[in-house]
Amino acid sequence: MNTEGLGNSKILNLLFKPAGVMMESKLRQWLMNPMKTLRGAGIQPGQTVLEVGCGTGFFTMPAAQLIGDQGCLVAMDILSKYTERVSKKAQAADLKNVRVIKRDALDTGLDTASIDTVLLFGVIPFPSLPLNRLLPEMHRVIKQEGRLAVWLFPVSGWVPKSIVQSGLFTYVSKRNGVYNYSRC
Ligand SMILES: C[S@@+](CC[C@H](N)C(=O)[O-])C[C@H]1O[C@@H](n2cnc3c(N)ncnc32)[C@H](O)[C@@H]1O
Repeated sequence: MNTEGLGNSKILNLLFKPAGVMMESKLRQWLMNPMKTLRGAGIQPGQTVLEVGCGTGFFTMPAAQLIGDQGCLVAMDILSKYTERVSKKAQAADLKNVRVIKRDALDTGLDTASIDTVLLFGVIPFPSLPLNRLLPEMHRVIKQEGRLAVWLFPVSGWVPKSIVQSGLFTYVSKRNGVYNYSRC
């Protein structure tokens, strides 16, 4: 299915409707400090960062703060209701360093070797983001010295091993619950 088809898919929209409420819940804000988690990804001011599956923007706003005015955050999601929501939030906060894109992350359309850090935060594993297709695309867009940063829901403990087994990334560290990989 193409980006348009997936983005309009009833199943995806249905699945992520309740997820949207949880993503923005006060309980989540209380349990998890997004800025602290993002610091675990080692994002630096001035970087170009790709956030895959930005959802309602839980990590988007703090990530934009971390990269500063000289950086660029590409916030990507397949569902237009989320990209529209995040665009409004970015506009309301007058963030000029955020580019919100509605697109399938399996085919980002971004230039090769254009990204310093890719954030896969709360997005894998998920059927619409299979690792065997997602990782090669992330490997393509990340710069030679760039990083892949992954924050997982606790039930998906097998994912870090699968990322290494792909042969595309090398494990570097785990900080604040974030797994960091360099590009092979
Ligand atoms: C569980 S939510 C996590 C959202 C956000 N990262 C957070 O932690 O609050 C997963 C997000 O991935 C998006 N998504 C799923 N498949 C995708 C794909 N193939 N390309 C881009 N985004 C996708 C969904 O629309 C959803 O917003």
